[in-house]
Amino acid sequence: MTSLDTIVGIELGTSKICVLVAEADERDGLRIIGVGQNISNGVRKGEICDPTLAANELEVALQKAEDMAGIDISRAYLGISGQHVRGATNRGLHPIRNREKGVTPRDVEIVLKNARSFELDENCNRLHCIQQNYCVDDVDNIRNPVGYRGSNLTVEMHIIQGAYNRIENSIQVVRQNNVDVHEVAFNGLASALACLGTREKEHGALVIDIGAGVTEYLLYAGGRVRHSGVLAVGGDHVTNDIAIGLEISVRAAEDLKMNHGSAIVLPDTDGRRVSLSSGIEQMTRDFSLRTLQTIMSLRLEETLKFIYKDLEKQKLLHHCQAGVVLSGGTANTPHLDFLAERIFNARATRANARAMSSIHQNLDQPEFMTCLGLLKFGSFQARTEKRRIGGLHISPFSMSIPGIFRRDARNN
Ligand SMILES: Nc1ncnc2c1ncn2[C@@H]1O[C@H](COP(=O)(O)OP(=O)(O)OP(=O)(O)O)[C@@H](O)[C@H]1O
Ligand SMILES: [Mg+2]
Repeated sequence: MTSLDTIVGIELGTSKICVLVAEADERDGLRIIGVGQNISNGVRKGEICDPTLAANELEVALQKAEDMAGIDISRAYLGISGQHVRGATNRGLHPIRNREKGVTPRDVEIVLKNARSFELDENCNRLHCIQQNYCVDDVDNIRNPVGYRGSNLTVEMHIIQGAYNRIENSIQVVRQNNVDVHEVAFNGLASALACLGTREKEHGALVIDIGAGVTEYLLYAGGRVRHSGVLAVGGDHVTNDIAIGLEISVRAAEDLKMNHGSAIVLPDTDGRRVSLSSGIEQMTRDFSLRTLQTIMSLRLEETLKFIYKDLEKQKLLHHCQAGVVLSGGTANTPHLDFLAERIFNARATRANARAMSSIHQNLDQPEFMTCLGLLKFGSFQARTEKRRIGGLHISPFSMSIPGIFRRDARNN
């Protein structure tokens, strides 16, 4: 990587396609030089449902980003989401045989291999293998165990997997536009990279990205990714609930949500009525604000509680000490932070790109966290790759380049 490399991030979202181009320097500085957006109709619940349409819609976003940046985009980091994506933690174990030397580099190699050998779901591939700290017997949090004396070396590995064909569908949409997918990354990881600083990653923070069709979540603690998941629920479901509950069109429901929505039922809503700001229905009807807010709060509460229960089941709830960070467009819903605080019993905030320097205000919005994070991921991987070639380093997100996808990319 030279002092000014160009990094491109692409999110094929359910409501929007977003392409960002940045110049990256050696010190993790990113300067956005191109932005391209388009509406998205070829993606549902974070997955491609119409490849031709999605490719055409991406073409428009790519063109806009290229025009603004004044470059031809040939390679990009692509975000991946969908219900098929799943995170799980596996433990590798290896006995320390050499009592005199303690843990050897070979022991480390073997224990990592054991931790990675996790039975994946059918037709799935690893998206990321994220290593946790080592333990020797009952001493945990060992960063480098070489030379440590004891009987058993263990290490946990957080493995994020996804269905090969479904990931490949997203990659093909990008390739149809003559853009090579350099690496893929889980959208939830990307969002976390954009909005968590070192302190939050260390103390423990949960990032919840609620988009239009999917909700990704990812927990960082002790500087490592501890848990992740995806729910096939997003802001579109909130809109649909309103449409059904109030017997109005989806477009009218979206209008009410954007202009009068709230994640909680506010105390002063009794008897208050709201009307639509546009369309035919505007002339004819008004609606109870309390009913609108009740419908929204029920869906959003259910979504957050699902994540709460998952963390409770994994015994990881106590790791949210630095709080809950809400990203994705649905994080713009008024009072969602209040609802999250009530459910998680932790401080909740709307995401901003605090982990990135000088992002223009227009882009420093929750709905851009995934794409901004893809740039951060990209610059990180590029720097790590350079050091790896020099024999120094492996990425903490190793296997984020699923070999199988890369090989395909080269063959095509
Ligand atoms: N002020 C707001 N109040 C409530 N919802 C909002 C607001 N602004 C945006 N949204 C919702 O945010 C969603 C879009 O978010 P985002 O752009 O993050 O989705 P996406 O990345 O396209 O989709 P996904 O990641 O789910 O595939 C829509 O459902 C939209 O209604
Ligand atoms: Mg999204």
